[in-house]
Amino acid sequence: MKNDVLKVLLTEEQIHERVAELGAQIAKDYADKNLLLVSVLKGSVAFMADLMRAIDIPLAIDFMAVSSYGSGVKTSGVVKIIKDLEIDLTGRDLLIVEDILDSGMTLSYIIDMLETRNPNSVRICTLLDKPERHQVDVPVEYIGFTVPDEFVIGYGLDYDERYRNLPYIGVLKPEVYESAE
Ligand code: PRP
Ligand code: MN
Ligand code: MG
Repeated sequence: MKNDVLKVLLTEEQIHERVAELGAQIAKDYADKNLLLVSVLKGSVAFMADLMRAIDIPLAIDFMAVSSYGSGVKTSGVVKIIKDLEIDLTGRDLLIVEDILDSGMTLSYIIDMLETRNPNSVRICTLLDKPERHQVDVPVEYIGFTVPDEFVIGYGLDYDERYRNLPYIGVLKPEVYESAE
């Protein structure tokens, strides 16, 4: 697994520190709100687990699963709902928790869909942002790190369902996905 990593982009320590900062900021901003963290599976699983423990106010969590990448490295542009939320969103202040904002297709689709269900507010918290790849404009309130246009893996992020369990975020060696094309 480690042999497929070209370089480490963000270490465990860097991620931990930034997640603590984001959590403190969110706790402040949502102190008098009805916070519901919405984790977008599967990529956000590690970030969600760490972020929720860094937010020291009452909150609820829920999960939804969507997929647009399948097993490839490029977005298909078509977002598929695999699992929907279970909690009623009426009057809730939603914070969508994502691992990465790439083309923006996934988040733009999710935001539009959730806004029809009468939440009090909807905002986004993404660990990583890849501005060079945006295809649609998505307003993001909280960003952990801005990353260059390289294929990143680890801390929840996969290539073909692998590498999600790396504790850090790394760049995948191009030959790994080139050999699969
Ligand atoms: C990845 C990633 C984001 C999305 C970002 O998910 O976790 O959810 O793509 O890309 P976009 O901004 O171009 O839409 P993926 O569809 O691979 O599913 P996964 O989270 O289960 O890996
Ligand atoms: Mn995802
Ligand atoms: Mg994926």
